[in-house]
Amino acid sequence: MVYTICYISSESSDLKENQLEEVFSTTKINNGSEDITGMLLYYYGNFLQVLEGEKETLLNLFENIKKDKRHKNIITIFNKQNEHRIFEGYKSGFSIIKTKSDLKNLKKYLNKTKDTTPFSKSILSLLEPFLI
Ligand SMILES: Cc1cc2nc3c(=O)[nH]c(=O)nc-3n(C[C@H](O)[C@H](O)[C@H](O)COP(=O)(O)O)c2cc1C
Repeated sequence: MVYTICYISSESSDLKENQLEEVFSTTKINNGSEDITGMLLYYYGNFLQVLEGEKETLLNLFENIKKDKRHKNIITIFNKQNEHRIFEGYKSGFSIIKTKSDLKNLKKYLNKTKDTTPFSKSILSLLEPFLI
């Protein structure tokens, strides 16, 4: 079993390009060292994040993330135990999705895994608004 958190949020209105890059790099570095897999998607001012890992680690991290002033309107979609990780086999475990081609590759991966992991299907449906 693995703990999984998934939420959407929107960036704070005054977020600059370099501040965004800072969020991405902190996320990539910290999550790599905490054995957290998943993804952080940024698209036209909105975030969609999936975090997979050890329960205590994720709950503490999520408390931190929720307090972060760089985003707002956080809506939790999934916050519970899951059968297994779905992002373990994707890229280096934790991905930043910010281009159309990142999104296309992610969609391809989730489509491949959706028969064995129902959660992939849920994430695919969450991605739909971003795929237009
Ligand atoms: C949308 C968004 C997603 C974030 N995701 C993560 C994440 O997955 N991992 C992480 O360590 N920090 C993430 N952060 C940054 C954290 O909120 C926080 O700044 C970081 O964990 C450093 O915390 P610390 O200064 O207490 O060490 C995210 C921030 C934002 C705005």
